[in-house]
Amino acid sequence: MHRAPSYLALPEISLASSDVSRPFLKWAGGKARLVPVIRTHLPPGRRLIEPFAGSAAVWLGTDYPTALIADANPDLIHLYQTLQTEGPDFIAYCRTFFTPDTNCADTYYAYRDRFNTTRDPREKAALFLYLNRHDYNGLCRYNASGRFNVPFGRYRRPYFPQAEMQAFWVKAHTTTFVVGDFRQILAQAQTGDVVYCDPPYVPLSSTAHFTDYAVGGFGPEDQEDLAARAEHLADQGIPVVISNHDTPWTQALYRRAARITVSVPRFISCDGQRRESVDEVLAVFRQ
Ligand SMILES: C[S@@+](CC[C@H](N)C(=O)[O-])C[C@H]1O[C@@H](n2cnc3c(N)ncnc32)[C@H](O)[C@@H]1O
Repeated sequence: MHRAPSYLALPEISLASSDVSRPFLKWAGGKARLVPVIRTHLPPGRRLIEPFAGSAAVWLGTDYPTALIADANPDLIHLYQTLQTEGPDFIAYCRTFFTPDTNCADTYYAYRDRFNTTRDPREKAALFLYLNRHDYNGLCRYNASGRFNVPFGRYRRPYFPQAEMQAFWVKAHTTTFVVGDFRQILAQAQTGDVVYCDPPYVPLSSTAHFTDYAVGGFGPEDQEDLAARAEHLADQGIPVVISNHDTPWTQALYRRAARITVSVPRFISCDGQRRESVDEVLAVFRQ
């Protein structure tokens, strides 16, 4: 169905430092600030499915009875599974990696090597959190051999997200965390589920390249496949919401959905003090 896009300017939303429902990881493309808007377009349901979980901001900011939280990144999901299983013991263990002594380049690169070689899943999960909070901009990047390769971030005092991890653990008891490609996850959707998809962004300009979040990247054919699967699920009565950059390409791609444009203030990476607004689209597929 063709519907005219509606437009919404996102107010500045500051998440209070006491808001423990915010993600405990930094994540490129994280939706923490957009959650209040996304929430208003997600219908009620029995279970939330998030196939592109990242920092899981939308799951954390909503209140479905159960959830299936998935991502193609196994390091991310193993961290969530370890926290879910071990809770406070694991949080205390992670804290031991956050001391003034570990916040220096030498230790960072030693820990990065250790992360890339250890066979101990618990240590690897804790090191993933350490890297996320000590590396450059909280990025998560791997080289062609699958080795984590983000440089040291030089923060004065990296934050240890104790309260956020605790809240995540409490919420996780009704949740299943799965490593997988979005196709495999969407195939599990049933009547009563609500699906929120936040794939890697399409480029803002036609000359830019598609952003890589995982080894293998996420190309235009993946974006098209996701939109087609969303249409198919909506036809079966399972609502799907997809977010992405608002471009002529995504407007055409999501033409069968109701489309809401949201203006999001962002910092520009080459000049951390400057802000510009980028438009994002929320495509709501339902019967
Ligand atoms: C824009 S981020 C999601 C951000 C998340 N909504 C948040 O608030 O933090 C996109 C995510 O998609 C994951 N991803 C990339 N390709 C994927 C695929 N084929 N299947 C499932 N997840 C994928 C990446 O690992 C990344 O975490």
